[in-house]
Amino acid sequence: MSKVIAVISGKGGVGKTTTTANIGLGIAMQMKQCVVVDFDIGQRNLDMILGLENRVVYDMIQVMDGEATLEQALIRSKANRNLYFLPASQTKDKSVLDSEKISKMLMELRKKFEYVILDAPAGIESGFEHTIEFADAAIIVVNPEVSSIRDSDRAIGILDSKSQKAKIGHEVEKMLIINRIDPEMVQKGEMLEADDILEILGVELFGMVPEDKGVIDASNQGQPIILNKKSDAGKAYRRIAKRICGIKVPVERPKVKRKGLVGKLKGIFS
Ligand SMILES: Nc1ncnc2c1ncn2[C@@H]1O[C@H](COP(=O)(O)OP(=O)(O)OP(=O)(O)O)[C@@H](O)[C@H]1O
Ligand SMILES: [Mg+2]
Repeated sequence: MSKVIAVISGKGGVGKTTTTANIGLGIAMQMKQCVVVDFDIGQRNLDMILGLENRVVYDMIQVMDGEATLEQALIRSKANRNLYFLPASQTKDKSVLDSEKISKMLMELRKKFEYVILDAPAGIESGFEHTIEFADAAIIVVNPEVSSIRDSDRAIGILDSKSQKAKIGHEVEKMLIINRIDPEMVQKGEMLEADDILEILGVELFGMVPEDKGVIDASNQGQPIILNKKSDAGKAYRRIAKRICGIKVPVERPKVKRKGLVGKLKGIFS
């Protein structure tokens, strides 16, 4: 049985595309056939993070309009043979999305892949609604800050009322990822705690990813951080991907890094 998972957040810039790329690779590492689909029409970031921007010839809209076959548009990941990527159109605007065409395309993708991961655009407008429309599950990405939590709460409200599953009284499975956690700020009480976020959103926690400059560098190089075995953020994504694949692994809280003497002195005098 295949699963369509929408990666959503409400607020923009919290890490949906980063999550999509890393989780897609993580699922592929579990030997599952996976496709990541860029639903952020006009933006196109996922191709860069996956290091596939030069390979893009056809896009999702051309597939929907019958100008290209799915086979022509799908691009195989260089990092893992089980992962494929379906690009968004950069030239056409969001209004080109059409429920019937999306449904047909997702049906085709379901036949080929166990996991179909959709990277939603920022906001909760029509592009977002099309991304969640046929989803079986949603990965909700939040940053530990009030505006992100509030916007995610709104996005969950739309998921629970406008998705096809909601229309027939079924619940869309929800998996929460708290991204960009600074453990030191949490310790000092300067950042929202995971428990507070869980209480507000009322969804299951799937993982916590620390703030890590390496994530940005990795994305810029087209080598998602999950490929870096030493990175804590990479390890967090690996655990999340396992949980999505149904493997029981505990959720780990990012730890405060032990500092050397210079770091400690900086802390005292800051
Ligand atoms: N854990 C992290 N640590 C440090 N930087 C991060 C982390 N996660 C994401 N980022 C950075 O945050 C920025 C926004 O991430 P990303 O593009 O994935 O967000 P998005 O939700 O897809 O944005 P949009 O809503 O515009 O589509 C990027 O520069 C990314 O590298
Ligand atoms: Mg994005």
